Amino acid sequence: MRKIMDLIADELAAAFEAAGYDKEYAKVTLSNRPDLCEYQCNGAMAGAKAYRRAPIMIANDVVERLSDSRCLAEITAVKPGFINMKLKNEYVADYLNQMSADEELGLERAKTPGMVLVDYGGANVAKPLHVGHLRSAIIGEGIKRLARRMGHRVLGDIHMGDWGYQMGLIITELHERKPGLPYFQEDFDGEYPKEAPFTIGELEEIYPKASARAKEDEEYRKAALEATRLLQNGHRGYRAIWSHIMEVSVADLKKNYESLNVHFDLWKGESDAQSYIPDMIESLKQEGYAHIDDGALVIDVQEESDTKEIPPCMIQKSDGASLYGTTDLATLIQRMEDYDPDQVIYLADKRQDLHFLQVFRAARKTGIVPEKTRLEFLGFGTMNGKDGKPFKTRDGGVMRLESLIGEIVDEMRKKIATNRTVAQEEAEETAKIVGMSAIKYGDLSNQASKDYVFDVERFTSFEGNTGPYILYTIVRIKSILNKYQADGKEISSLKVEPAHDENEKALMLEVLKYNDVIESAFEELALHKICAYIYDLANAFNRFYHETKILAEEDVTKQKGYIALLALTKRVLESCIDVLGFAAPERM
Ligand code: ARG
Repeated sequence: MRKIMDLIADELAAAFEAAGYDKEYAKVTLSNRPDLCEYQCNGAMAGAKAYRRAPIMIANDVVERLSDSRCLAEITAVKPGFINMKLKNEYVADYLNQMSADEELGLERAKTPGMVLVDYGGANVAKPLHVGHLRSAIIGEGIKRLARRMGHRVLGDIHMGDWGYQMGLIITELHERKPGLPYFQEDFDGEYPKEAPFTIGELEEIYPKASARAKEDEEYRKAALEATRLLQNGHRGYRAIWSHIMEVSVADLKKNYESLNVHFDLWKGESDAQSYIPDMIESLKQEGYAHIDDGALVIDVQEESDTKEIPPCMIQKSDGASLYGTTDLATLIQRMEDYDPDQVIYLADKRQDLHFLQVFRAARKTGIVPEKTRLEFLGFGTMNGKDGKPFKTRDGGVMRLESLIGEIVDEMRKKIATNRTVAQEEAEETAKIVGMSAIKYGDLSNQASKDYVFDVERFTSFEGNTGPYILYTIVRIKSILNKYQADGKEISSLKVEPAHDENEKALMLEVLKYNDVIESAFEELALHKICAYIYDLANAFNRFYHETKILAEEDVTKQKGYIALLALTKRVLESCIDVLGFAAPERM
């Protein structure tokens, strides 16, 4: 369905033209004076100079041509030259009924669906998931769902950090603890055991110990670096350990992401890019894109229009080791070959923006990524504690994802218990569902690039701009619809009626923004716009609900209209939170 704004703009454009003015001036916006009108056009003021006419005269001319408008009512020209408009109630009801009849709620899907690859999650294998990865997972999952909602073919890739120094550390520590294992016998040529020689618990204990020791013990650090090198050069026993680490960690990661309702289509990692690196380096050298600078192999990415210095993208260190940028470039080669994406969207801490700028420029310059493929970096800010510093546990350690979720769910459980509307057995499940909304909405309602304060108390509140408030609103609507149906009455065939009062109209005006909001949220990769929208929508619903008797309404036609509007409101809210990656319970 066409967006309501476009429909209004069309009528305005026709009126401007009919009155002899350029339709360029027929821009429509939401009213910033909702007490006076719903939409407005300021084009008469903009055109005054060109036509050497007083804006109010232009506005009057245009308003005259709108007298038989299909969608607009109460069109007035107001000094100095505003055109104020309201939508016809019949028109709005009709639009909403069309939305309601459409499975996609009237969303205009992309005309030419593309292939979109979302690189998010970015977990580092064998290191615990921490809050830094939480944002990537939450925002990335939302972007992936949004792209899919717009009709694109989408793949979400976790792109694990699975090839670095941490692997060498674990191998070294394991060697010390269990030197008898066959992986460490240089002359061993039999089959290695199928079972990993450690559990996920041990693995998580091994890494921090090894990492701390390497910082103090130079010999140990050298051994870990050497183990990393041997692993990367194909040492048979170390590769086998690596496979065990991957198996055990990926199973654990899957469980963790599952509990966040985050699902990847591809479980690839930095290691998958390795086989592309030697050829890439060879051809970069041959084609003259890369050159040696201070012993290292680099690609210059400085551009003339740059106002500051952009350092070259490093491809190979003097000792032959590859770097973060090398892997990301090689991964792009692999992605172009395997999926030929039209758009690749990367999620990572915004402090990585220089890295992505270098990689993107290098990819373009070398032709690894063609012009038609958009590369986008969506950098996010830090999640801070109430003290304004990066989120930590009470004892000052890095907060683990599981404990963070645990903290929110505990708080939710308490709140639900005091509410007592949910049976004991259901309470645990409900606490998890509502807790998820608290975490995700708390994050997504902020512009991604901004730092934000993770405030358990505020995020779990049933009031204010929070996930639980949105869910509470949905649950309230569900409960009314259930009661209505409990009397044997049917809902699906009901039609929205032209609004009976201001509150109902205000709710309708929010509902019909849906397709506009979803589309621009995707264009701008701005999930916070969806949050702001559902907050307004929930507020409009609650105002309507408090001022209107719905189930007690005696006028049957009126009541049917209300119920149809409620059912549509619920679908719109649910569809939005589905994009955001959470869901509503039955009760709370
Ligand atoms: N593993 C990285 C980190 O923990 C994030 C990876 C982001 N994606 C990428 N293609 N570089 O910071």
